Parts: sequence; structure tokens; C-alpha cells
Amino acid sequence: MKIAIVGTGYVGLITGTCFANAGNDVTCLDIDSKKVETLRKGEAPFFEPGLSEMMTKSINAGRLHFTDDAATAFEDTSIIFICVGTPTGKDGRCDLSHVMGVADSISDSLDAFIEPPVVVVKSTVPVGTTHKVADRLKGKYSIANCPEFLREGNAIDDFMHPDRVVCGVEDERAKETLEKVYAPFVSDGHPIFFFDIHSSEMVKYASNAMLACKISFINEIASLCERNGANIERVRAGMCSDSRIGNQFFKPGIGYGGSCFPKDTLAVMEMGDDAGAPCLVNTAVHNLNQRQRKWFADRVLKHFGGDLSGKKIALWGLAFKPNTDDVRDAPSIDIAKTLIAAGAEVTGFDPEAWETFGEEVPEIDISKDMYEVTQGADALIICTEWAEFSSPNFSRLKSLLREPVIFDGRNLYVRSEMMQHGFNYYSVGRPTVELATA
Ligand SMILES: NC(=O)c1ccc[n+]([C@@H]2O[C@H](COP(=O)([O-])OP(=O)(O)OC[C@H]3O[C@@H](n4cnc5c(N)ncnc54)[C@H](O)[C@@H]3O)[C@@H](O)[C@H]2O)c1
Repeated sequence: MKIAIVGTGYVGLITGTCFANAGNDVTCLDIDSKKVETLRKGEAPFFEPGLSEMMTKSINAGRLHFTDDAATAFEDTSIIFICVGTPTGKDGRCDLSHVMGVADSISDSLDAFIEPPVVVVKSTVPVGTTHKVADRLKGKYSIANCPEFLREGNAIDDFMHPDRVVCGVEDERAKETLEKVYAPFVSDGHPIFFFDIHSSEMVKYASNAMLACKISFINEIASLCERNGANIERVRAGMCSDSRIGNQFFKPGIGYGGSCFPKDTLAVMEMGDDAGAPCLVNTAVHNLNQRQRKWFADRVLKHFGGDLSGKKIALWGLAFKPNTDDVRDAPSIDIAKTLIAAGAEVTGFDPEAWETFGEEVPEIDISKDMYEVTQGADALIICTEWAEFSSPNFSRLKSLLREPVIFDGRNLYVRSEMMQHGFNYYSVGRPTVELATA
């Protein structure tokens, strides 16, 4: 099948590459010409395990193309996926200008088609947006919605083996085309749902809102545990062995970040306000998440009596989660900025996100060696649970740090072991390990 993908961000590039890998002829369109040049060489503009290899294979096989020219991308195509960003705008509302811009450019090309392509909105959009896109297509369209559920860091596997594919359709042609293009990805028996378009749009927001809710919920319980002398890890084990609750996504920490949960929670709140049905749970989820970051940074300040001048603080983990270099709305950004504002010199290490983080917080001194950043530091803060942080050389760490203090925002270590290693150890929802001499 000849497929056009509009937008080569995380979703567009993964979607295009995986469709090409399945044997389709895919052209990816982006307005960023520099990015297009890089992509043509088989270089992914962001870190995602396995992506560059898969891109190169399909480029060499002549199945994956990149362009910044809409007419080239849309030529003879039977299906167009809109995968551009839907960030939170300056007014706090979901910014649909990129999606509507693409709708207009498809509209401009429609006269060249004998049979108009199926236009699929894959970007995460508020309910009603797919129909607004259809309104721009001069009545010549077959429209669909097909939200994406991939997770950065595991994106290829998620796309190749989705838990489910959700499609919102209104005509047989859209249904048949999506069924055909997704057939190789659901051949292992996972469902492909065909719903009405509004329900399909809502599934995506409802899913992200639920996941964000689980994170804020467990963080609220962690906060209660700390104040009442309980241990969140034990509470979690006891609670999550109830099969009605389950154990996925109930990890206490410094809250969620990234390009999806924060903005999607805000978009749900916006939909609620617009509909005259304020979303109270989502509002609390968002507020709790903001509080969690602030609470963690305040804890560091409190340890040092509120003044960090002359202090050096090392950060491990800058990406919003492991296995990505994405720092969009990462808790580490707010934490680093708070520490810098309080007078600290901040050094940071991340296996992948050194460049992206440096652009966000230029004051930080970034090193490519996880131990080097701790040299002479008054404390180590862990913001992201990269695998390489799970079993560090604690003796080396202790000899490098000026003070043996660790603030662990992801509960990576066993408290009793930290006591044996001789660290003051703060984590989330567990009693603090304080050395007798501290
Ligand atoms: N990132 C994720 O993990 C993820 C997961 C599921 C869903 N989503 C959703 O998918 C959508 C895309 O997210 P993303 O993270 O891939 O975005 P992104 O910001 O990484 O990439 C968007 C791309 O679209 C391009 N673009 C913008 N306007 C364009 C236009 N008119 N024509 C062509 N290209 C244009 C930009 O240059 C950019 O390369 C969002 O709605 C997001 O919420 C993201």
C-alpha cells in the first residue's frame, strides 16, 4: 500500500518505519527540511532503541522515503496519517494549529486525486477534532481516527505488537483500508476495534488520564506513608496483589513528565470545562503531579537549610524516563532549575539526554561519565530510573561525594543496604535513612 505520514516526530517516524518494514511504500513528510535531510541518511533525530537500524533497512529496500514537499508525499497515496504535535498552547488549551495546517495542505492537494485518500488523524486530539479536519477537506474525504499508544523507549515493540489498535471510522472504505494496513500488527490475536470517531478520540485521552491518575494516586499514598511511618513498597505489595488493582504503573516517584501525560491531562480538563462537566479527578491528578516535583526539590533545600550557595549537586537521569533522550516536561528540569535558583552548582549525567537537557537548562554542567559528575558533590539526586543506576559502585560513589547523601526520586535502592554503605538516604514514601553522625 502507498502510505503518507505527516510529521516525523516520535509517532510519525515510528509509524512510517514500521509500516515500511511491513512491506508498504511509505513517504514521510515534515516541514523541517533539515530534519528531512538527516532522516534520508537513515539517522533518527532522537534516541529510540532499534529505530535507526529499521529505518536504514527500509530506506535501502526503497520502501521508506522522506520529503518536505506535500505534493510529493501525497502523490498516488491511498492513506494519509496525520502525526503532528498537539502541544499545550500559550493559552493553556490544546494547540491544534499543526493538525489544521496539515488538513489545509491535504485539502490543497485533493484536486489531484481521482479517488481521495483515507485521511487518518493519529495525533492525540480532543473529541470533535477529526470532524473539524474533515470539514476542511471540501467534502471529498474518507476520514478516520486512529490514536497511537506507543511508549517512547519501547516504541518499535509497542507498534509491532500493540495491546490493541483503536480506529474510529464512518465508512467502509476507511475501515477496510485500516484493517489491511494493520493486519500484520494484530496477527498475533490482539484486537483491532472499530468504533465511532468520538469514542476513538476519547479512548486515547481516557487511557492516558487513567495512567497519570495511577501515578498521582500512588504518590499521594507515598506521602501519607512518610507522614505515618509506613513504607510505600510494603503498602504497594500488599495492595497490588489484589487482582482488581494490579501492579502496573503504581511506582512511587517524582511524578510523570514527557510530551503526553502532562498535556493530555490538561486537555481532558479543558474538554471538561468546555462541556460544562469539570473533570475533578484529572484536576487533582495534575495538581498532585506538580506538587510532587516541588516537594522533592524542597526536600533537598530543607536538608541544606534552604541555602544552596557554595553547594554542588549531582543529578543522575535527565530524560523524563529511561531509554529516551526526550526531556519534554521532565521533572528533572524543574528540579535542576529550583536548585540553581537556590544557588547550587548543578552537574548532570544521562546516558542519552545530555544534549536535549543542555538546551533546556544551559546552566548545568553535563558530563558523559556518571561518576565524574559526583566528584566533590554535596549530594546525588536520582531523577530517572536508567538501568545503569540500579547497582552502582557504592564505595566509589561514597569516596567521590563530599557528603554521603542520596536523594532517590525513583526508589532504586534497598534502605538497609544504604545504611550499610553509610549513606544518608532519602527516597519516596519510605522512612529516611539517617546516619547517626549526620
Ligand atoms: N511521543 C509519544 O510518545 C506519543 C505517544 C502517543 C501519541 N502521541 C501523540 O502523537 C502526536 C505527535 O507526537 P510526537 O511526540 O511524535 O510529536 P513531535 O513534536 O515529536 O513531532 C511532530 C513533528 O511534526 C512536524 N510538523 C509540524 N507541523 C507540520 C506540518 N504542517 N507538516 C508536516 N510536518 C509537520 C514537526 O516538524 C515535527 O517533526 C501528538 O498528538 C502526541 O500527543 C505521542
